[in-house]
Amino acid sequence: MADKIAAAWDKLGEHPHTPLAELFADETRVAKLSGRIALGEGQGSILFDWSKTHLTDGILRDFEEVAGHAGFIDARDRLLSGAIVNPTEGRAAEHTAQRGIGKDSSVEEAFALHQRMRLLVEAIHEGVFGEIKHLIHVGIGGSALGPALAIDALARDLSLVDVHVVSNIDGCALEQAFAACDPRTTLLAVASKTFTTIETMTNAQSVIRWLEASGVSDPTGRVIALTASPEKAVEWGVDETRILPFSESVGGRYSLWSSIGFPVALAVGWDEFAAMLDGARAVDEHFRDTDGRENLPLRAAFADQYYTRIRGCQTRACFAYDERLALLPDYLQQLEMESNGKSVTVEGKAVTAPTAPITWGGVGTDAQHAVFQLLHQGTNLVPVDFIASIAPGDELDPAHHRILLMNCFAQGAALMAGRGSDDPARSYPGDRPSATILCDDLDSAALGALIAFHEHRTFANAVLMGINPFDQFGVELGKEIAKKIEKGGESFDASTENLLALAGLA
Ligand code: F6P
Repeated sequence: MADKIAAAWDKLGEHPHTPLAELFADETRVAKLSGRIALGEGQGSILFDWSKTHLTDGILRDFEEVAGHAGFIDARDRLLSGAIVNPTEGRAAEHTAQRGIGKDSSVEEAFALHQRMRLLVEAIHEGVFGEIKHLIHVGIGGSALGPALAIDALARDLSLVDVHVVSNIDGCALEQAFAACDPRTTLLAVASKTFTTIETMTNAQSVIRWLEASGVSDPTGRVIALTASPEKAVEWGVDETRILPFSESVGGRYSLWSSIGFPVALAVGWDEFAAMLDGARAVDEHFRDTDGRENLPLRAAFADQYYTRIRGCQTRACFAYDERLALLPDYLQQLEMESNGKSVTVEGKAVTAPTAPITWGGVGTDAQHAVFQLLHQGTNLVPVDFIASIAPGDELDPAHHRILLMNCFAQGAALMAGRGSDDPARSYPGDRPSATILCDDLDSAALGALIAFHEHRTFANAVLMGINPFDQFGVELGKEIAKKIEKGGESFDASTENLLALAGLA
């Protein structure tokens, strides 16, 4: 099988380069390379336009061959049926079960845990904890990035509770939250799959001390634990009635859908959280039921692989032309780089081709006035995704949204068309790829769908590369060395020793 996969990749490398402008001579191109996912009854849809990439019929056919030899359909079935897809940790990856797609017992368990979470959210809204105006949510990585993104996107107009997501161990982060919250009306959510992460546990202790120092009589009574290790939360002193567990088989960076999403439901209400799950499920269904190039996350992965492996691109950028998605690049960085930044195959052998590119990005139109110079005229080829919503998120003069969207579409057109000039400094080479994701409206369902699309795209990339996207051993070594430094008695390289001495840590 390995030989067949290698031969299929070789074939992909042999396609002659056809400039985008020439590809657009085909009048059916936009229709062929655009697809839409409907988000369910009464909901809008999202358009995924990959026509401004260099994918051709021939390239897509060869990628379908790679996917076939790589066992994509079987891998997808295994993912969605709760099989062990993370062999290094002996785990399934059951985030889709949170959205109702997966092994029956896992879907039922997720449903029951959601009901428990819903009861707590509604009890808080109804005043069971007294008047609650603020929530400090401490967590890091997957226990913070999803909630921060969803709250920033959805709770701008409607915030039932003012949520502050604090991840950094730097006390400045927590002090900022303290300054914005009244301790008498503040709850603390401690979000940690393992309930051992040093940043989260240290921040949580500091919040408890702050509540105590502010005269709150029972600070631990204000704690809600969101975790896959409920026994550790009990040991830490949280009453079982305030522990919202989730399954061990939900990975940290895929955990927004579980009780890690508690702050989202608290901020925007249960119905909006449920709508986010529904939007994600619409993408799950599309991913499960569609084969070959018509499967939109798989098609996106074909383009990702084309640019990384065939064209040697080392980065991929995402620009949301929507202020509400300002945190999306941060979220995608963890999702894509922690999942697919690997050097060994699923069989533990060294990879023979590049794995995940560096994900980066920002918001339009700000980024146009900063980094777009490099995109248009730099020496790096950077495939770009543009994400926008047809409906505006603001109620100001419609000129704002009109200018925003016109700029978004203009950038994709300019990257592709370029423009020659006698003056080399004023010349744009063009033929630079982009994809556009256009939501009818950026509501809860669309946000859920956007995130699920990227989850499946990341998984599809991993299958094509033959790697395990669900472990993350690369993050361990630095943590271990930090612990050794704390313990003392070990020596390190001269530079590190010098830095430790300068900071008084030796
Ligand atoms: O350090 C990486 C990591 O394990 C991430 O994968 C995870 O999202 C984050 O730390 C937080 O872990 P936890 O939820 O267990 O505190």
